[in-house]
Amino acid sequence: MIQTDFLVIGSGIAGLSYALKVAQHNPDKKILVITKTQADETNTKYAQGGIAGVTDLEHDSYEKHIQDTLIAGDGLCNPKTVEIVVKEGPERINEIIEWGTQFDKDPDGDYKLGREGGHSEFRILHHKDVTGKEIERALLETVARQKNIEFVKHCFVVDIITQHHLGYLITKSTPDIECYGVYALDLHTQKIIKILSRITLFATGGNGQVYRTTTNPKIATGDGVAMVYRAKGRIENMEFIQFHPTALYEPGISPSFLITEAVRGDGGILRNKNGEAFMEKYDERKDLAPRDIVARAIDSEMKKEGVENIYLDCRHMNIEKFIEHFPNIYEKCKSIGIDVAKNMIPVAPAAHYSCGGIKTDEFGRTSIKNLYACGECSSTGLHGANRLASNSLLEALVFSHRCYLDAVRVVADISFNENVPDWNAEGTTQPREMILITQSIKELQLLMSDYVGIVRTNVRLQRAMKRLDILHEEIENLYETTAVSPQLAEARNLITVGYLIVRSAQFRKESRGLHFNTDYPFKSELLQNIVL
Ligand code: FAD
Ligand code: SIN
Repeated sequence: MIQTDFLVIGSGIAGLSYALKVAQHNPDKKILVITKTQADETNTKYAQGGIAGVTDLEHDSYEKHIQDTLIAGDGLCNPKTVEIVVKEGPERINEIIEWGTQFDKDPDGDYKLGREGGHSEFRILHHKDVTGKEIERALLETVARQKNIEFVKHCFVVDIITQHHLGYLITKSTPDIECYGVYALDLHTQKIIKILSRITLFATGGNGQVYRTTTNPKIATGDGVAMVYRAKGRIENMEFIQFHPTALYEPGISPSFLITEAVRGDGGILRNKNGEAFMEKYDERKDLAPRDIVARAIDSEMKKEGVENIYLDCRHMNIEKFIEHFPNIYEKCKSIGIDVAKNMIPVAPAAHYSCGGIKTDEFGRTSIKNLYACGECSSTGLHGANRLASNSLLEALVFSHRCYLDAVRVVADISFNENVPDWNAEGTTQPREMILITQSIKELQLLMSDYVGIVRTNVRLQRAMKRLDILHEEIENLYETTAVSPQLAEARNLITVGYLIVRSAQFRKESRGLHFNTDYPFKSELLQNIVL
C-alpha cells in the first residue's frame, strides 16, 4: 500500500506541468506520478504543429484567438472557458519556456509563428515539426531535478477507489462520490497495489485507439474516461471525435504518421486523384478551413472517387524552407520513397483527438470529490463541437495550473480513508487465450471506423451499438474470471469509450462540428452538451 498527498496519473504535458507546480509549492511533500509505459510515451511527444497563443500583440489579439476558437467550436464552447484559456495561455507558455522548452526563433530573436486551420493569424509557437517532443523533453528534465516528485513507470491504473469499494451502492445520482485513490497494476511484480491519496489528478490523455486508423500512439486507450464512467462520474460530449485531415496514407501502419496542418499553413494544397485543388468547392477558407470541414471534404472526395487517399501537394513550396520547418516529415517521406519536392504526399483522415471527456469545472474539478482532470481526457468547455488546431497543448497548461491552484488550497482539509480494502482477485485465473482480447479490440476498431467515423447515420449507430453490446458482455465475463493485465484493462476501457461515443452520438439529434449525421443534416436551435 502507498499513501501520497498528491497522486498524478499521466506523464504528458498535463500531468507533468501540474506535478511540477504542486511539487515546487510543497517542497516538503511527495508527489507521485504514475505512467503506464515509458515516461515519454504520450500523445504529447507526438505533437507536431505547436502551441497556439497570443504572443504578438502588434498583429494579433486575445479577441481574435477567442473568436477563432468559438467559430471552430460551432456554438458549443463555453465562452468563459475560452476567455480563460486564451488570456491565461501566454503566461503558462512562458513558464514552459522557463523550464527549458525551445521554440523556433528568427534571426532577430523573435519567435517564428506558424498558422493552422481556423486561425485568422500566425500564432503557433513551434519547435520545427517536433514541438511535443521538445516540450516533453523539457518537462521530464525539469521533473528529474525536482527532488520531491517520485516517478513510477510501467504501472497501470485499473480503477478509481470510491465508496463503492467500501461496500456502498453508488449510482449516477449518489451525491458526493469521493475518490480515495486508485488500484494500480505494478507491471514489474504483476501485483495490484492500493494507492491512497488525498488528491488525485487524471491526466490520462486521449482515446484514438478506439479507431482502426489513428495518429495516437498505443497508450491512447481512454483509460481515464472509462474509469471515471465506471465510478459514476460525469462524462461529456464524447461524440466529438476529431479526425485529422492529413495523416500519411500508409496502409497497414499504425499509428499513422501525421503531416502537420502547419504544412498547409505554409502553403500546402490538398488535391484529389485528378490533381484538382478541391477545397474551394467546400469552404472559402479553402485548405485552412477548420478541421471538421476539411476532413469531411476529403471524406466526400474519397467516396466520390472510390479511393482511400487524396494528396497534399508541396511541390511549389520552397524546399529549403520546407526542410527547415518540417525536417521530420521530410525524412519520413523520403524513407518511404516520397520526395516532397517532386511527389505529392498521399494522405487520408485519421482519428486524432477527443474533444469531450471527463466533465470538469473551471478549476479542473470533476463530479467526483478530490478527483481532478486536465489535458485531453477532460472536457472543460474549451473545444465545444470541434477543437481549434494547437489549442490542446495550451488547454493542458492552463488547466493543469488551475487544478494546482485549487488542489493546494484544499489538500489540508482532506484525510486518507484507512478503510479501503486491498484488491480482491479471488476467483480469477491467468489468461489462457490472449486472442480473445486482441480480437475484441480489432472488432471494436473496425466497427467504430466503419459505423462511427466522419459521417454517421442512425442505422450505422444502431448497428454499432448492437455489436458493442456483445463486445461489452464478452469482455465483462472475461474480466470477472481473468487476472487483470494491461491488455485486458485496455480492451475493457476501449469498449466503454466506444459505447460512450456511440451513445452520445445517438443522443445528438443534429449535425454540429465534428458530429455529422445524414439523418439530421442541420443544426438544432437547442444548444446542448451531452452528459452521460
Ligand atoms: P498525454 O500526453 O497523452 O499523456 C497521457 C499519459 O497518461 C501517458 O503518460 C500515459 O501513460 C498515462 N496513462 C493513460 N492511462 C493510464 C493508466 N491507465 N495508468 C497509468 N498511466 C496512464 N495538440 C496541440 O495543441 N498541438 C499540436 O501540434 C498537436 N499535434 C498532435 C500530433 C499528434 C500526432 C497527436 C497524437 C496529437 C497532437 N496534439 C496536438 C494533441 C496533443 O498532443 C494532446 O492532446 C496532448 O498532448 C495531450 O496531453 P495529455 O497530457 O493530456 O495526455
Ligand atoms: C497538427 O500539427 O496538425 C496537429 C495540431 C493539433 O492537433 O492541434
